[in-house]
Amino acid sequence: MAQERTASRRIMVVFGTRPEAIKLFPVIAALKEADGLEPVVLVTGQHREMLDQVLEIAGLVPDHDLALMQPGQSLDEISARLLTGIGGVLDAEKPDMVIVQGDTATAMCGALAAYYRKIPVAHVEAGLRSGNIYHPWPEEANRKIIGSFADLHFAPTDTAANALRREAVADDRILVTGNTVIDALHWVTAQLADNPSRAGVIAPVEARFAGKRIIGVTTHRRENFGSGMDDIAHAIRDLAARDDVAIIFPVHLNPQVRAAMLPILGGLDNVALLEPLDYLNFTRLLQIAELMLTDSGGVQEEAPALGKPVLVMRDTTERPEGVAAGTAMLVGTDRTTIVTQASRLLDDAAAYAAMAQAHNPFGDGQSSARICAAITEWFSVNGASQPD
Ligand code: UD1
Ligand code: UDP
Repeated sequence: MAQERTASRRIMVVFGTRPEAIKLFPVIAALKEADGLEPVVLVTGQHREMLDQVLEIAGLVPDHDLALMQPGQSLDEISARLLTGIGGVLDAEKPDMVIVQGDTATAMCGALAAYYRKIPVAHVEAGLRSGNIYHPWPEEANRKIIGSFADLHFAPTDTAANALRREAVADDRILVTGNTVIDALHWVTAQLADNPSRAGVIAPVEARFAGKRIIGVTTHRRENFGSGMDDIAHAIRDLAARDDVAIIFPVHLNPQVRAAMLPILGGLDNVALLEPLDYLNFTRLLQIAELMLTDSGGVQEEAPALGKPVLVMRDTTERPEGVAAGTAMLVGTDRTTIVTQASRLLDDAAAYAAMAQAHNPFGDGQSSARICAAITEWFSVNGASQPD
């Protein structure tokens, strides 16, 4: 008589950078709750301090940590280390499925290493496309590579699902789930509401700038390195010349970002250049900011959910939903355009009100539960061919 299967399916969740950790900790929590699924957490350490900040807040202890980050790493160096490092763990663990998120080098190499072993791949935040292979770079190519062979594509929105259909991904492999960042944001805002003192890093900066109108800034995109970053820095400096505003700018640890920003913005009275904030403190910044200036992907999703106008310092976006909802506007990296659009929001109450509407085009906070249900269903259909 055939033995009845009782063992859980082991789902290896692979991530390595701050945004992946933020968008996957709710998925890991849901996997732990789901009957018949068991998460195994592999962090690559593509990021170190910025990853650890999220692990600590989420109370996550990885099963494996490859600790791969090197200062100033190039794309080929980090990708080579990732592919062989992740491959070694997959050979040892032999998971039933691998989950990757988004479009980082870790996500692309994690998916590729799984594919090389014919392990099914589930892609969270699938189908984002800017249509320009160099914007963002290298993320647009990374996500297309994952999309070309993933078994399950968890698209955050209908727009993303349609992009996958245009690339001939079969309908029964696509599920619109919402973006798990909203699950994370709901969790963190509840934590802040219960215990505001957890935003203890931002509190003294908030006090220092009492009465000022706060502009929050983040920037890190590789395609902006060089003249783009220089223009962004000068635009922020121009805005800081207004005495009614204060800039709060947690500076990404990429040495190229710091080299571009610190010389131009250091030492200004109403500019606080901070170390990267943990997710609790960064969410508090989103709450107190009048507007955000950013080239980040995640911030484009969080700001609309909180009704904060966001000026996106890029020429293209793979997240058109925020623009369509009216909360986000593409301003590129041109110094004059950034200053003009930010000043318009500061000086024109009607223009500000038109953008400061809370919208949730990116989800309802239940994305992780949908993802777990879909994985369970996938195994019920495809499970017979899986090894014991
Ligand atoms: C990476 C991702 C990008 C994602 C971003 C999120 C790739 C190719 N890029 O870009 O898609 O949007 O993360 O932030 O996958 N560093 C530290 N400590 C840290 C993190 C970074 O010192 O905790 C420094 C190191 O010198 C490191 C450098 O930043 O070499 C670059 O890190 P890397 O992950 O290669 O690129 P990011 O620009 O962070
Ligand atoms: N974030 C954070 N601390 C910071 C800056 C950003 O916790 O100092 C969070 C932010 O809320 C969002 C994510 O990090 O969820 C975005 O990460 P990043 O901009 O580095 O990457 P991207 O989203 O562009 O890939």
